Amino acid sequence: RTLDQAGELTSKRALVRVDFNVPMQDGRITDDTRLQDALPTIRFLFERSAKVVLLAHFGRPEGKQVPPMSLRPTVETLSALLGRPVAFADDCVGPQATAVVDGLAPGGIALLENVRFHAGEEANDPKFARELATNGDIYVNDAFSAAHRAHASTEGLAHLLPAYAGLAMQRELEQLERVLGKPRRPVMGIVGGAKVSTKLDLLKHLVTKLDRLAVSGGLANTFLFARGWNVGASYCEKTLVQTAREIEHLAGQNDCELLLPTDVVVATSLEPGAPTFVRRRGEVHDDERILDAGPETLVALCRALERSETLIWNGPLGVFETPPFDHGTVEVAKAAADLRRQGKLVAVAGGGDTLAALNAAGLTGEFTFVSAAGGAFLEWMAGKTLPGVAALELPDRELNPATP
Ligand code: 3PG
Repeated sequence: RTLDQAGELTSKRALVRVDFNVPMQDGRITDDTRLQDALPTIRFLFERSAKVVLLAHFGRPEGKQVPPMSLRPTVETLSALLGRPVAFADDCVGPQATAVVDGLAPGGIALLENVRFHAGEEANDPKFARELATNGDIYVNDAFSAAHRAHASTEGLAHLLPAYAGLAMQRELEQLERVLGKPRRPVMGIVGGAKVSTKLDLLKHLVTKLDRLAVSGGLANTFLFARGWNVGASYCEKTLVQTAREIEHLAGQNDCELLLPTDVVVATSLEPGAPTFVRRRGEVHDDERILDAGPETLVALCRALERSETLIWNGPLGVFETPPFDHGTVEVAKAAADLRRQGKLVAVAGGGDTLAALNAAGLTGEFTFVSAAGGAFLEWMAGKTLPGVAALELPDRELNPATP
């Protein structure tokens, strides 16, 4: 169900799940794309005099109040983008939240504190979902990038209130279907970044769908380690080596060419000016960290792109926030953009960090489609059901009206 089916909205409280899990450094937002993505739905609602109540998570505070993971710093940027005041409640449930929501005039906007400060969120606890639901008359899910999580604010609420897909959610689903519903083959995936445990499980599915897969960034270290190569002091999930081996095996069984880095850029520190070295894989020193893909690896990736018709990319190749370790990510982005410009490649990228890297390199507009979603985008691609999307398809009669 989409927003245009929501009927009369005047004075209705719309609980809107957005994804404000934005890249932040020293309390400052470094890329506001996810905030911008939420604007059309927020505007749609306030222009129809609804009371807009925003729910979001930030980071992984694991059910505890972790002050650096507060959503409060987001208010200023959001308010500036909307050109309107945005109220903030220090809790997403309970008397503080209710007081702020009750204080909204029709067309007013409030952001409630990080839903993940409560353990009930990730547990999809029905009691917590009911508490959230007391502040809404309808529920709008505009967070496609969190739709792979069956949490109270992404899934549970859809069972309690009339539920609709927001405009950003709708756009994501339509664009993904248009561009990747029947992809041009061969399809190459590049999966990097650091959320290793989340992504490894997905790779098991992806190797059955893709023609080639380049494992990069922090994720690749676990594969290198599984092959017995020293990764020095690099970020590496040593408990997941068995999964990495299993993925290599599945890739072989499914004719999915697996590309791992053959060389890497290392340093002992991320300090500006710290010396960097190119090492062949396996020759990394114990005190060194792998921080980017090496030149030989980049050439191999670009050649593989030339042999592909579609690219699906999630996760940077290195610590892109700290130059010069953005080099690999930017080089691959440029190569993909070039091929796309020549009409030779459908180039799709997704994920908060990938988006920030493309924005920083000024290349976002050069891609066929850039999704705000990372994990959700990969899960969609792997053909998995996204709980946050599936819940929006529930027939009305399955609703359990919220009781306080
Ligand atoms: C994301 O950044 O991909 C989404 O906000 C989901 O975050 P999570 O992986 O912490 O659930």
